[in-house]
Amino acid sequence: MDTQLLEKTASELVAAGKGILAADESNGTMSNRLEAVGVSASPETRNAYRANLFSANGYEKFISGVILFDETIRQKMPDGRPIPDALTSLGVYPGIKVDIGAKNLANHEGEKITEGLDGLRERCEEYFSMGARFAKWRAVIEIGDEKPSDACISTNAHALARYASICQEQGLVPIIEPEVLMAGIHDAETCYEVTSSILQATFEQCQIQGVHIPGALLKPNMIIAGNSCPEQISREKVAQMTVDCLTEHVPNDLPGIVFLSGGQSDEDATAHLNLMNSMTINHPWQLSYSFGRALLANALKTWATGDNEGSQSVFLHRSKMNSLARTGDWNSELENK
Ligand code: G3H
Repeated sequence: MDTQLLEKTASELVAAGKGILAADESNGTMSNRLEAVGVSASPETRNAYRANLFSANGYEKFISGVILFDETIRQKMPDGRPIPDALTSLGVYPGIKVDIGAKNLANHEGEKITEGLDGLRERCEEYFSMGARFAKWRAVIEIGDEKPSDACISTNAHALARYASICQEQGLVPIIEPEVLMAGIHDAETCYEVTSSILQATFEQCQIQGVHIPGALLKPNMIIAGNSCPEQISREKVAQMTVDCLTEHVPNDLPGIVFLSGGQSDEDATAHLNLMNSMTINHPWQLSYSFGRALLANALKTWATGDNEGSQSVFLHRSKMNSLARTGDWNSELENK
């Protein structure tokens, strides 16, 4: 394992003022999103939408890496360059989603296990040769009656650690993403407890599998009440509970935590990150972003109207707002400037 390379990549992915763009929606998810805004989905439209984002002027000031899907890493920019080469030429790391999706967990109705370990070593080798330097694997944990089960926590934690270990062997920094979903009526305390159990189990498994923590990144949810819970908590409380939960369960030698947005509004996601980075305590890890929807939802809507430049401006604006949240320098007035 080339620990030096892994540590360098991981620390550059969470460099000051920068975060990650998650543009790795699977073909199914991206097609649904395109069709929801009235665009017919095809490899060509998915390529055109993403190539337009990757052509935005100056986004590399705010974006350290872009997570791609298998189809996208093989596609080209309008000038014919392979997408990973175009990103690399701007100093943006190409990343790749390597799991093959969350499948039904046997004997546990309504629960999921993320698959994709078979053949992972060979796929990582190929992605590295195409320019990828980091990877993502997303486990999905749902809160509900009797959920999550111990089986769901332990199998997903084990798979995350095995994935991380294989990626590191192949020179890719693993983003370890155990996502506790926002959907549900649960309160924030329940989200805290469930997030604690999956983080605890994941780092235990990482230790067993020999994952090199200084060469990895964590992509967790924030601690938030379920979206149908009548008792929502304040932004300040979200920030505090999230930092408390991470402090309890995340090793100090992890270089960075790159949050997912998970369906929060653009501004909530930014505000929460900003509050965490405004605290007077010094966190042991960088606190950054790896947002999908919170960076792109409005850029997609604008692109669907045929306004390519408008879509790039929306993407640049959200990237800049989140970049400011890395240092606690965001405020809501900046949203309208
Ligand atoms: O795996 C989830 C995505 O990479 C992040 O997407 O910010 O829309 O939750 P999100």
